[in-house]
Amino acid sequence: MAGTSSNMAERELTNSLSTMTTQDAQNPVEFYRHYIAEKLSPIVNKPADDLVKLLAWTQSLDKGDLMLPVAALREKGVKPPDRAQEIAAAFPKDDDVLVTSTANASYVQFYYKPDDLIKRIVPLILSTKHVYGSNPFPGLRDPQHPEQGKKKIIVEFSSPNIAKEFHQGHLRSTIIGGFISKLYALNGWDVIRMNYLGDWGKQYGLLANGFRQFGSQEELDKNSIAHLFEVYVKISKIKAEQDVPINELKKQIREKTQKGEDVTELQKQLEPLVAESEDEKARQYFKKMEDQDEEALALWKQFRDLSIDKYKKTYARLNIEFDVYAGESLVSRKKIEEVLKSLEEQNISEQSEGAIMIDFAKHGAKKLNKAIIQRKDGTPLYLTRDLAGIHERHEKYHFDKMIYVVADQQNEHNAQLFKTTEISGHKEISDKCSHISFGMVKGMSTRRGTVKFLDDVIQHVKDTMMDVMRKNDKKYSQLEDPEKTADILAITAIMVQDLTGKVRNGYEFDFERMTSFEGDTGPYLQYAHARLSSIERKAGADLGSLGSADLSLLKEPHAIDLARSLAQYPEVVSNTLKTQEPATVLTYLFKMSHALSSSYDVLQVVGSEPELKQARLALYEAARQVLWNGMTLLGLTPVERM
Ligand code: ARG
Repeated sequence: MAGTSSNMAERELTNSLSTMTTQDAQNPVEFYRHYIAEKLSPIVNKPADDLVKLLAWTQSLDKGDLMLPVAALREKGVKPPDRAQEIAAAFPKDDDVLVTSTANASYVQFYYKPDDLIKRIVPLILSTKHVYGSNPFPGLRDPQHPEQGKKKIIVEFSSPNIAKEFHQGHLRSTIIGGFISKLYALNGWDVIRMNYLGDWGKQYGLLANGFRQFGSQEELDKNSIAHLFEVYVKISKIKAEQDVPINELKKQIREKTQKGEDVTELQKQLEPLVAESEDEKARQYFKKMEDQDEEALALWKQFRDLSIDKYKKTYARLNIEFDVYAGESLVSRKKIEEVLKSLEEQNISEQSEGAIMIDFAKHGAKKLNKAIIQRKDGTPLYLTRDLAGIHERHEKYHFDKMIYVVADQQNEHNAQLFKTTEISGHKEISDKCSHISFGMVKGMSTRRGTVKFLDDVIQHVKDTMMDVMRKNDKKYSQLEDPEKTADILAITAIMVQDLTGKVRNGYEFDFERMTSFEGDTGPYLQYAHARLSSIERKAGADLGSLGSADLSLLKEPHAIDLARSLAQYPEVVSNTLKTQEPATVLTYLFKMSHALSSSYDVLQVVGSEPELKQARLALYEAARQVLWNGMTLLGLTPVERM
C-alpha cells in the first residue's frame, strides 16, 4: 500500500543500519574530501584530518564540486588570491579521481573527474537504494561501539485538541514534526513520535453537557468529530449569550466596590445567573472528571477514543504513525503535586491573590511574563501539566533529546516551561529540550468561502487534481485507482507548499500556485518521479541487471552534471540535521529535478543502442531512487503514474 511505503522503508532501513559498520560510510562527498585533504596536506603543511573540515560546498556546480577557502587555512602574511594560485599549481595533475583544480579569487576549486564519479556514484545508489543518504552515526551513542545503542529522541508533534477538527496550526505541526522524526530516524536515532492531545479542561465539561442536550449517539458513531463540533458550537453560543449579563453585573460590582458603595443587591442578582450558567455547569462537570467520577469520565473517554480513530485516518494519509498518544489528561496528579511542592520549597513560585504564580523577572528572565501555575480553586493549568509532563517523560523514556513542534503563538509558553525546569534544579533536562517554532498559515479559504477543516481543504485540492488528471484520457485510463492518486497529489501539493519556506515564517495558503505543474510545486515533483518511472516502463527495463551497465558510455555534460548532483544528496541530509529545515531537502530536490528535465532530450533511452540504453537507464534509476528517498523523507508518497 502506498500509504505506508515510507514507514516500511524506514523499518527496512533500521534493519540494514544495524548491520552497518563505520567503514560503510555512504557519503561519496566524504570520500572526495578525504582524498583531496591527503593530497593537500604536503602542499599546505597541515594534517589531512584538519583539512577535511575546511573543504566546503560550492553554491553551484559551475564553481566546482568542493572548494577550499584559502582564508580558512589561517596562514599569516599571505594574499589569499596569490596563495590560491600557488596551491592550485602545486596540486598533482593527471589525477584519476580529480580534474585539475583551479584557483578563483581566494578559493581553490576542485572538480571530480567524470569517469571516476559516475562509476563511484551510480553503482553506490543502485546497491544501497533507500539507504542512500542516510547516516547511522550521528544517532549512535558511541560510533566506535555501535552495539551500545542509539540515542533516543522524543518528537512531540501534531497534538490537536480532541473533539475538534484539526486546524492549520495542527496541520503544520503534523507535517513538520513528521519530517523531523523521519530525519532523525534516517540519521540513526531511536525516535519516539508522541502526540500530546489537548484532552483535559473545563471545555470538555461544556461539551459533555452540550452533548446531553443536543447530541445523538447515532450521529456520534457515524460522524464523530463533525457532530461534536456542531454540539460545541451550539453550547458555546448559549454560554456566550449567558456571559453578557453576567459580565455586565460583574463590571458594575467592580465599579461600585471601588467607589465604596453597597453591592449586596447586585450580588443577589448575579448569584442565580452564575449558578444556572453553562459555564458553572461545565466547571462542575469537569470537577467530577478531576475527581475520577466514572460516569463523567465515560462520556469524555468516548469523545477521546473517537477523536483518535478519526485522527489516525488523517495521519495515515500523511504517512505518519504515532508511537504514543499522550495527552494532558494522562499527566499524573502526583507528579503535578510534586512539581508544585518543589517550586514552592525553592521559592520559585509565590502566592498571588489565592493563586500560585511564578514571576520570571525575579529569576533572571526579565523578558518572560508572569505565569499562574495553580488557580484560586486549586486546579492546575496547561503550563503546570507541561512542567510535570517533562519529568514524567524523562523518567519513562530517558530521552537524550526532546523536540516540541508547536506554533510560534506558544513561544512564551515553551520558554516558561524550559526556564522553570532549568531554575528548579533540572538544567540537565531542559538542556535536552528544544522548541521548533513555526509561523502560521494565512488564508486557508476557497472561492466558496472560508474552510476550517483539513478534510475540506484536501477535498478541494483533490477536486482540482482530478480535473487536471482527467484532461489526459490515455494516462487517466491507465490509473489503477484514480481516487487514490488524486488524494496523494492533493496531499503532496499541500505538504510541499508547507515545507517550502523557512519553518519559522508563516505563509499564505495559495490554491492556484500549489496545484500548478509549473514552478517548484508538489505536482512538479510527483511528475518528475512519474516520468522516470514511465521511462523505465516504456524501455521494459530490467532493474536487476542495471548493475552490469557500461557506465563509461555516459559522457555527455548532462549525464555528468546529473551524477554530480546525485552525489550531493547524503551531504544534503546531514546538513539538514543541522538546519532542521525541510526546505534544505526540497531546494535540492527541485534543483536535481531541473537537471533531470533538461536531460531527457539529450539522454534518450528509447531508440538508443542497447549498451547505451542500459547505461542511461542505470543513471535514471539512480536519479529516481534519490528523488524517492528525498520525497519520502519529506513524508510524501511518490507516484509511478499520474
Ligand atoms: N494542544 C495544544 C494546542 O492545540 C498544543 C500542545 C503543544 N504541546 C505541549 N506540550 N504543550 O494548542
